[in-house]
Amino acid sequence: MPLQSAIDNPGIPAHIGIIMDGNGRWARKRNQNRTQGHLEGLKTAKRIVKAASDMGIAYLTLYVFSTENWKRAAEEVGFIMGLVKRYLIEEMDFYRQNGIRIRYTGDFAGLPEDIGGEIQKALENTKAFPGLQVILALNYGGRDEIRRAVGRFIQDRREPELSGAEAPAITEGGISQYLDNPDIPDPDLIIRTAGEFRTSNFLLWEAAYSEYYISDILWPDWTEEDLRLAVLDFQKRERRFGGIIKP
Ligand code: FPP
Repeated sequence: MPLQSAIDNPGIPAHIGIIMDGNGRWARKRNQNRTQGHLEGLKTAKRIVKAASDMGIAYLTLYVFSTENWKRAAEEVGFIMGLVKRYLIEEMDFYRQNGIRIRYTGDFAGLPEDIGGEIQKALENTKAFPGLQVILALNYGGRDEIRRAVGRFIQDRREPELSGAEAPAITEGGISQYLDNPDIPDPDLIIRTAGEFRTSNFLLWEAAYSEYYISDILWPDWTEEDLRLAVLDFQKRERRFGGIIKP
């Protein structure tokens, strides 16, 4: 049976997060520069966005660049930023045709100005599109997102009149309202490619009850079929959210 028809459609995860790992190793295996791995990684991202959209996934968060990735060589950082810019500019027709909405998570204030500008344009130009929402995690760290949320939370507790809201309650739900995208449900499934068993600071708060799927395949080699395998695997999991399944 083809994998797509084996998938239980109503049971499709609403939100998938992907830690796209292995670009550097992919390039090293071919004696190529690391940047070549990122270039191939971008092609994979396009493939997987299309596959997720076709499959009816509602939200897809891609871990593009972490708050720790600035430690890399300036050439590599500049190359990845250039790819992001290209991706946002060149894919606009694709977003329109597929109804894809671009969202952002991360420390926007710390982004280079031109990248921030392109992100803002993409958010604005796609905000009414009804299909898959692709959340770009760029200059993103899970701890950093919580840090920023706590800052805004404290501000509103001290001076609720500034935000026009009531002083927020110190509850999990109250704190969640201060994360980057409070309207987006927590990820059901987090995929990591290239075989590492680490969260690497990805969606720390939101992933409390996410299912993890680790694939040995390097990100540039990932295909639509690998996404289907991950979804099928997810559909076999028994999610208890800390409770028990009644016999
Ligand atoms: C991890 O591989 C990958 C990154 C830090 C960059 C991810 C960027 C892209 C895939 C391109 C841009 C994508 C979009 C959607 C704009 P690594 O370099 O850590 O690999 P390694 O662990 O094998 O060295």
